[in-house]
Amino acid sequence: MEALISVQHLHKYHQEDLILDDISFSIEMGDLVSIIGPSGCGKSTLLRCLNCLDTFDAGTVTIDGITLSRPMQEKLQAVDEEFLDRAHALRQHVGMVFQSFNLFPNKTLLENIMLAPIVVKKEQHDVARAKAMALLEKVGLLGLAHRRPWSLSGGQKQRAAIARALAMQPKVMLYDEPTSALDPGMVEEVLEVMRHLDHEGMTQIIVTHEMRFARDASDYIIYIENGKIVEISDEDEIFISPKDERTRRFLRRYM
Ligand SMILES: Nc1ncnc2c1ncn2[C@@H]1O[C@H](COP(=O)(O)OP(=O)(O)O)[C@@H](O)[C@H]1O
Ligand SMILES: [Mg+2]
Repeated sequence: MEALISVQHLHKYHQEDLILDDISFSIEMGDLVSIIGPSGCGKSTLLRCLNCLDTFDAGTVTIDGITLSRPMQEKLQAVDEEFLDRAHALRQHVGMVFQSFNLFPNKTLLENIMLAPIVVKKEQHDVARAKAMALLEKVGLLGLAHRRPWSLSGGQKQRAAIARALAMQPKVMLYDEPTSALDPGMVEEVLEVMRHLDHEGMTQIIVTHEMRFARDASDYIIYIENGKIVEISDEDEIFISPKDERTRRFLRRYM
């Protein structure tokens, strides 16, 4: 089967610092992949490059047939117009969920979810509304459609943020520590939404410290340290017998 997502030799610098060092992996449609690793290893930067919130300096990213590619160069260069156009097209296929929800505070949940389909996709109001209500139902928030984010719990806000990302009908969902800002009692309701989406066949990449979820729900796990992939492993194997000593050391802290 051809990969839905392919990342080849991705390099990313901040000034002189190499933040992502020759990252390569591919993900098939319907997979759920967890990315784990210590703080500062480059997990967020990697997701931002996949979602084109950030540009990368060399390598190739392909998502659903749209390819962004930059050659290795002596000196770092700014990206050109064509790259930006492609990045814009690619971003339409990628949904992103952040640790801090990033909902529009002055809008109701329903309005939050309807906004991008209407503004970006030029969907009819009625169509966007019906889809948004269906998504609210899917994440268990139908009764809260007219509430504003401030009146909701963290778990409810995060489920709304997932519904909002889904409204653009992405080919893949990216989550950057989606449960890290939540009280422990609310973690499970958010993980449950991701499990449900997995059963529906959504492709998902999750940066997480929830090791039990990573082990139970993932098709495989990518361990990153210092901007490099240390190992890509089967979800059980990495916990039972990690291939690399660095992975073993990291996981020991969570077991
Ligand atoms: N805008 C930036 N400018 C300079 N360095 C950055 C910037 N964003 C992130 N970094 C650095 O890149 C590295 C990776 O950061 P990040 O991707 O946020 O890691 P993680 O999400 O794994 O904690 C860190 O060393 C961080 O300090
Ligand atoms: Mg991060």
